[in-house]
Amino acid sequence: MEKHSLNGTLIIFNGFNLVLLGVLLRSGMQLLPTLLIMLLSTSMVQFLTFRLLNRQYKEIKDITEKVSMGDHSQRIPTLNVEEFNELGQSINKMLGKLDGTIGHLAIHREELRLIVGTIQDALWSINAEGKIEWANSAFAQLFNLYDETRMQYYWEVIREVSLLNYIREFDSSPENRIQEISLGEHAYLLSGSQNPDAQRTVLLLQNIDDIHRVEQMKKDFIVNLAHELRTPLTAIKGFSEAMEETADNTNMRYLKIIQNHTNRLINLINDLQTLIRLEQNYSINLREINLLTFFDNIKLILSPLFEDKEVELEIDIDPAQPRFCVDPFKFEQIFINLVENSLRYTEKGKILIRSKATDKDLTIEISDNGSGIAPEHLPRIFERFYVADKSRNRNSSGTGLGLSIVKHIVALHNGTIDVSSALGRGTTFTIVIPAGKAS
Ligand SMILES: Nc1ncnc2c1ncn2[C@@H]1O[C@H](COP(=O)(O)OP(=O)(O)OP(=O)(O)O)[C@@H](O)[C@H]1O
Ligand SMILES: [Mg+2]
Repeated sequence: MEKHSLNGTLIIFNGFNLVLLGVLLRSGMQLLPTLLIMLLSTSMVQFLTFRLLNRQYKEIKDITEKVSMGDHSQRIPTLNVEEFNELGQSINKMLGKLDGTIGHLAIHREELRLIVGTIQDALWSINAEGKIEWANSAFAQLFNLYDETRMQYYWEVIREVSLLNYIREFDSSPENRIQEISLGEHAYLLSGSQNPDAQRTVLLLQNIDDIHRVEQMKKDFIVNLAHELRTPLTAIKGFSEAMEETADNTNMRYLKIIQNHTNRLINLINDLQTLIRLEQNYSINLREINLLTFFDNIKLILSPLFEDKEVELEIDIDPAQPRFCVDPFKFEQIFINLVENSLRYTEKGKILIRSKATDKDLTIEISDNGSGIAPEHLPRIFERFYVADKSRNRNSSGTGLGLSIVKHIVALHNGTIDVSSALGRGTTFTIVIPAGKAS
């Protein structure tokens, strides 16, 4: 197709007018008819040009409109006016790139749909209004009120109060969170994350029944094993003590070693049982205690441990507020474990228990001037079976369960426990328990 440049056409047209003016004037024609002829020719050329431009413009407009309606197959044909043709080709190039991008996005979307569809856990997304934007098939199976053809509010589909509360709380404090919840007889791990740009919340509900079953099997196994081991160990301990009466010096040494190891095993079994009992029995029995009498009693219980040591136990209780609500039996265990540790790692000096109570909470510090804990171990000492100084004589070190029991009991009281320590200078554990009401 022959193309014309708009600029070129205008130059030719103006040139033609000048030539025409010259020819007419030179042929002796009068000025007025000359101008009339020129006006007529200009109008005609203008009309033809306008018609051409209008047709080309309409062609571009029609096609871009079709594209905007979703028909991406449309392309602008070659146009006669060069400038329009260039514009048309640029639009075609842009449409080509757009097609490529849309194609890629469609592939990704399909992949994502397949992945989400194969996930066995319920996955869904909620918009800012609280309507379910999309959900996978596992969600539809779990919540049979869900109808994917309608945009439903999540509370129309989800009826479980714990789950509804979680979603509501999540809206008010939207940092990524994970929480264990139970629906009927099943346990789930619920996690959510928010996309503030898209104003969407994505939630995932994972069934953890199997994990719970395995945990329960593990606990049952430990409880049974501990039960089976206790009787023979008590017998070994009892008979080795009885043999002390007739043993000579060499045998006495062997008997002490047997007793030492038997005691370690009995302690391990006791610790394991305590930990499992604490984990199984989430409830605590809060009672108001008098801290002065409570710690007097603790001192009495622990006094035999101090007999052969050059370590003194000092207790300093705030006398202004001596009453506080705790679970007395579990609370006792905290100080037994912490003081036992301090005693184990302190050769000479003092272990101090200091408490300060306010209307809101109770702060208790247990400090010693013993060997201290190296900074690299501090973050891990509350883990089960974690023993910081493995090079120590195995006879004097424990099994690493004491502090996890302490942490568990503090958590049952909704409290916190922190530790600070300096090698060679000592260790301080700080426990803060919020004030609770006696049941
Ligand atoms: N007061 C302390 N001084 C120095 N190290 C400590 C102190 N308390 C705890 N630790 C370190 O932290 C580790 C973990 O303590 P934890 O009470 O859990 O276990 P354990 O005392 O070794 O064994 P268990 O208490 O089960 O008999 C200890 O092995 C020890 O290395
Ligand atoms: Mg310990």
